Amino acid sequence: MKMISRVSVPVTSSKRMRTQRIALLVLAASTIARFCAAQAPTANLTIQLDKPAQAVSPTLYGLMTEEINYSYDGGLYAEMVRNRTFEDHGWADVGRWNIEHAGNSVATMTVDQADGPSAALEISLAITVKQADPLNPAGVRNEGYWGMAVRPNTTYKGSLYAKTDSADIGPISMALVNDNTGIPAATTSVQGLSTEWKRYEFTLTTGPVQPSADNHLLLTVGHAGKLWIDLVSLFPPTYKDRVNGNRPDLMEMMAAMHPKFLRLPGGNYLEGDQIDERFDWKNTIGPLVDRPTHRSPWNYQSSDGLGLLEFLEWSEDLHMQTVLAVYAGYSLKGDHIHPGPELTPFVQDALDEIEFATGDPSTKWGAVRAGLGHPVPFSISYVEIGNEDQFDHSGSYEGRFAQFYKAIKAKYPQLQLIATTPVHRTRPDVVDDHYYRRADEFFDDVKHYDTVDRNGPKIFVGEWATREGSPTTNMGAALGDAAWMTGMERNSDLIVMASYAPLFVNVNPGGMQWESDLIGYNAMSSYGSPSYYAQAMFGEYLGTEVPTSSQTGGGGRFFYSVTRDPAKGEVFLKLVNASSLAQPVEIDMEGASSVSSTGTLVSLSGTNDAETNTISTPTRIVPVKSTLPSTAAKFAHTVPPFSVQVIKLEAK
Ligand code: AHR
Repeated sequence: MKMISRVSVPVTSSKRMRTQRIALLVLAASTIARFCAAQAPTANLTIQLDKPAQAVSPTLYGLMTEEINYSYDGGLYAEMVRNRTFEDHGWADVGRWNIEHAGNSVATMTVDQADGPSAALEISLAITVKQADPLNPAGVRNEGYWGMAVRPNTTYKGSLYAKTDSADIGPISMALVNDNTGIPAATTSVQGLSTEWKRYEFTLTTGPVQPSADNHLLLTVGHAGKLWIDLVSLFPPTYKDRVNGNRPDLMEMMAAMHPKFLRLPGGNYLEGDQIDERFDWKNTIGPLVDRPTHRSPWNYQSSDGLGLLEFLEWSEDLHMQTVLAVYAGYSLKGDHIHPGPELTPFVQDALDEIEFATGDPSTKWGAVRAGLGHPVPFSISYVEIGNEDQFDHSGSYEGRFAQFYKAIKAKYPQLQLIATTPVHRTRPDVVDDHYYRRADEFFDDVKHYDTVDRNGPKIFVGEWATREGSPTTNMGAALGDAAWMTGMERNSDLIVMASYAPLFVNVNPGGMQWESDLIGYNAMSSYGSPSYYAQAMFGEYLGTEVPTSSQTGGGGRFFYSVTRDPAKGEVFLKLVNASSLAQPVEIDMEGASSVSSTGTLVSLSGTNDAETNTISTPTRIVPVKSTLPSTAAKFAHTVPPFSVQVIKLEAK
């Protein structure tokens, strides 16, 4: 038997240790007491409710999106089958697919480079079954995007293109199978295969199974023969039941941010690494079988299932404006198109794209959109010309921007055109500024826009984030974000729109290409980072007007903004305490004829900067709503350490 031996300590040394321990305890207790009692110097806020300084941009907070971190495929786009068109080779010839053989059945698979169901999908998966019988079937299985979420009593809608060398191969059995038990959660079959490519639909309906992401899709046959398959697809129920639609949980999380616009489709995803890897919108519309798919600059194949029309419908479903970014002739690895005749087809592509989105069905591209089931034009106010063109060191953006600007304004004078970096030959309506920073950098620069010339172009902060925490951001980042947002709100006469980036990350190993993201998920569930909640709070309590206000006193890490909605008689105070000390605040609302005696307090607090939410602890830091007693034209309030708070008051 193993014994634990006790070390005998001489009496003198034991006494000394006891004394030392007591001294340490006294020190710790006094530090804790000091920490608890300690406060930052009081901040005095004077708000002149009767003196509006400027209007709040009604479109201030929106969303920026692109295919990065498995945002669409393996994310928002609800498709469950990974590598459905066999373009992704992974480490093997056929990524994400494996042979499955029961008993003594024998099968092989390979990508057939010369046979596919359409001009866009020219390749397919050829499965040669040398031996199989109904009790010993053979086929292939797909692993999904880090599994497939299976829930009880749910119908999954599937489809595939298939053909065979002989109908003797029989039907294809389809099943959603648990990885750990091998037990199917749902089964069905696809009948009537022929020697011609044809599309087949099927449904898989589960019974009272345990919810789990540990599942795969299995396709098998019970006879020898050769089978080709392509565009194998399976969808769970989607947001608003859209065919080819989106994950409801992620759509609902975005809706809770109260976003006013969606900037799409990127980001670097718009540009592509090379010109022929750009977001070529004409290849992303129409039946899926006519979409060739393309490589994204984040090193994986994009299915383009979420194409231009789906982007526009996503905006529509969440009542957001679309901020449409058009490819402007520069790609990430440095290639560009010279302004002039070479650029003309790209300018025409952008005009066609705008017509596709906004033209009525009597126009060429409006008719195409109507033919795809959306006769009502989408309303667009902003078009962005390119992305981060400051990286085009050839200097061609001046000329490229001018060419796009002239052509778009000639046809659509009402559109506001956004330059991705300052240009001088043409005056853009708006310039897009990007900021990826640490929290301290945002704290130090919170007054960035206070002194910017109001006679120049408006500002779109099209990408910004405090990059602290991985895969999603932590409380320290939320504080950096909230401080920065107080500055953007105060300057929202100049800043017409702002959108955080990146929005999404699949938290599975290998899912992330860019650290510090807003919303994390796996196949089964999703969660918001502290930054997500800070933004949702700012988005919900936006207001319409910034009253004149001033601050005296307060700690160095205290930030605030104040807005109001005079029509509704509401005032919104946003208070950010990024310090470890409590922050007392004395609030004086001058010019108020009446102030409610209680307010609403929404509070997002952490214990320290590093505290965060994860996929397994998704609600450690969430906003808590309560009633704030004893409010008046003058009242005192203390903001706890590491906190973002919104106080809503009824005040006229
Ligand atoms: O948001 C991630 C990337 O950062 C975007 O694709 C790009 O525009 C920026 O550099």
